[in-house]
Amino acid sequence: MISPVRWDGSRLALLDQTRLPVEEVEKPCASWQEVADAIRTLVVRGAPAIGVAAAFGVALAARQSRADDWEGILVDLEEAINGLGATRPTAVNLFWALERMRRVALASRALPLDALRGRLLDEAQAILDEDIAANRAMGACGAALVPDGGRILTHCNAGALATAGYGTAGGVIRAAHERGKVALVWVDETRPVMQGSRLTAWEMVKEGIPHRLISDGAAAFVMKRGDVDLVITGADRIAANGDTANKIGTYGLAVLARHHGIPFYVAAPFSTIDPAIATGASIVIEERDPAEVRGVGGRQTAPATSPIFNPAFDVTPAGLIGAIITERGVFRFPYNFAQ
Ligand code: MRU
Repeated sequence: MISPVRWDGSRLALLDQTRLPVEEVEKPCASWQEVADAIRTLVVRGAPAIGVAAAFGVALAARQSRADDWEGILVDLEEAINGLGATRPTAVNLFWALERMRRVALASRALPLDALRGRLLDEAQAILDEDIAANRAMGACGAALVPDGGRILTHCNAGALATAGYGTAGGVIRAAHERGKVALVWVDETRPVMQGSRLTAWEMVKEGIPHRLISDGAAAFVMKRGDVDLVITGADRIAANGDTANKIGTYGLAVLARHHGIPFYVAAPFSTIDPAIATGASIVIEERDPAEVRGVGGRQTAPATSPIFNPAFDVTPAGLIGAIITERGVFRFPYNFAQ
């Protein structure tokens, strides 16, 4: 199985996603600052994977701390939690995982400090293991929505690389493929950072899943030709009403899918649902470095002086989403996740 995030006994090993598909190398992180840097620079990316990495970042902070009492270590952990939380604003899994780690630290006042360090590491590993289990459950639920001979279009990377392993939207595709239901996966290139061509296509090759890579602009054309049976994507944050933030371009695909009468599905674990946010209007959308749009693969393709707008995500209104596939089952519009 592809393992983008793993604890190697003393450090966090991250499969460096900035080097894929050309090189498969791991980046070791021995401090929370290195983990924060890896999240910021997309060495590790994808909402669930960011959460898992950040949880290990907190466990590393506990190991780094020179404090000799619980109050002291808590100060160091808060600094790490704030630093890790400042890396990327949109994926709620990051804040969900950091809050879970904070709760463990707060509940461990009675423990000796080494036991607290061990407890935090166990919690990070539990978050990782639970994510894989959730993805497998999601895959089984979602595969039932894929028709035999299904031709699926996906955007960005919501596969094993974006999670602790197996994937969300990618997990549904994987599970449907394991059941012999997938005829073809259309993989959107996903400008500007190319998570589709660099990462999803790499996963498809590795798993032997039939696929065809298209430029983002080709999606409407393949839908019009009748070559797409369903669209499935992941999510970075889902509001209480089902409005969903995901990689820039997702909203456009949902509009296109509705126009062509094609079902549009989202797959995400419950940790991606943010009950504190009523609608997508309140979701903070990360804006990234203009250089991502100014060039391709490090080569400049636009005038150096052209002003650039580079939102990393957009929000798809709940009404355009035919189903939200979670580890607890498939939800339909109008969405109500409280149960
Ligand atoms: O900027 P990225 O690569 O972190 O964006 C990732 C996405 O938009 C994914 O679709 C989303 O996080 C779901 S990952 C299971």
